[in-house]
Amino acid sequence: MEKINVNYPKMYYGFPVILISFYDKNGGPNVTTLSSSYTLKDMVVLGFSSKGYAINQIKEVKDFVINIPDASLVKDVNFCGRNSGFEVNKFESSNLTPVKSKVVNAPIIDECPIAIECTLTDVIERDYYDGVTNILANIKGRAIAKDYLDEEGQLKLMKIDNLIYIADGVNRGYRYMKSE
Ligand SMILES: Cc1cc2nc3c(=O)[nH]c(=O)nc-3n(C[C@H](O)[C@H](O)[C@H](O)COP(=O)(O)O)c2cc1C
Repeated sequence: MEKINVNYPKMYYGFPVILISFYDKNGGPNVTTLSSSYTLKDMVVLGFSSKGYAINQIKEVKDFVINIPDASLVKDVNFCGRNSGFEVNKFESSNLTPVKSKVVNAPIIDECPIAIECTLTDVIERDYYDGVTNILANIKGRAIAKDYLDEEGQLKLMKIDNLIYIADGVNRGYRYMKSE
């Protein structure tokens, strides 16, 4: 395979889009779009631009929910990823509905089939990664839409219909997984 060296500012090689929902310091629900995440066992890592509204609220309120939207929610994903909570209450301006989690003090997005309830444990900011805030969080609970579960209560893998975000700093877009 012949390769060409490139000098992209980023190489997002396919990450599931997630919606992070939280109650801000005043108790108001808000939400932002993210693709930088990974999870292992009961831990999750998220990457934020340091100046955003969501990360600066989550650093204080600690609790949040990772919601996994399916392809039908692409409009709301784009809206929440192009507007800041500094200017808008994204729940009021979108079709998304906040419902209080039973496990953490944060709202679950009703329209998303999967919700992962988290509490912040670590904030990692380094001078050599200027403008980036990584956080680690502990997973306290998981809530999944009934029709995504089989008779044993396990996840039906073929139901997953995530949006996969790919970007090189100039080109960017979604790839869609096919549902059953
Ligand atoms: C598909 C998609 C993926 C995104 N991924 C990230 C991300 O991983 N980290 C991040 O900080 N911003 C990401 N953004 C941008 C934020 O969602 C955007 O800057 C948003 O306006 C921040 O809102 P806030 O100020 O309310 O936090 C993404 C946007 C889109 C549309």
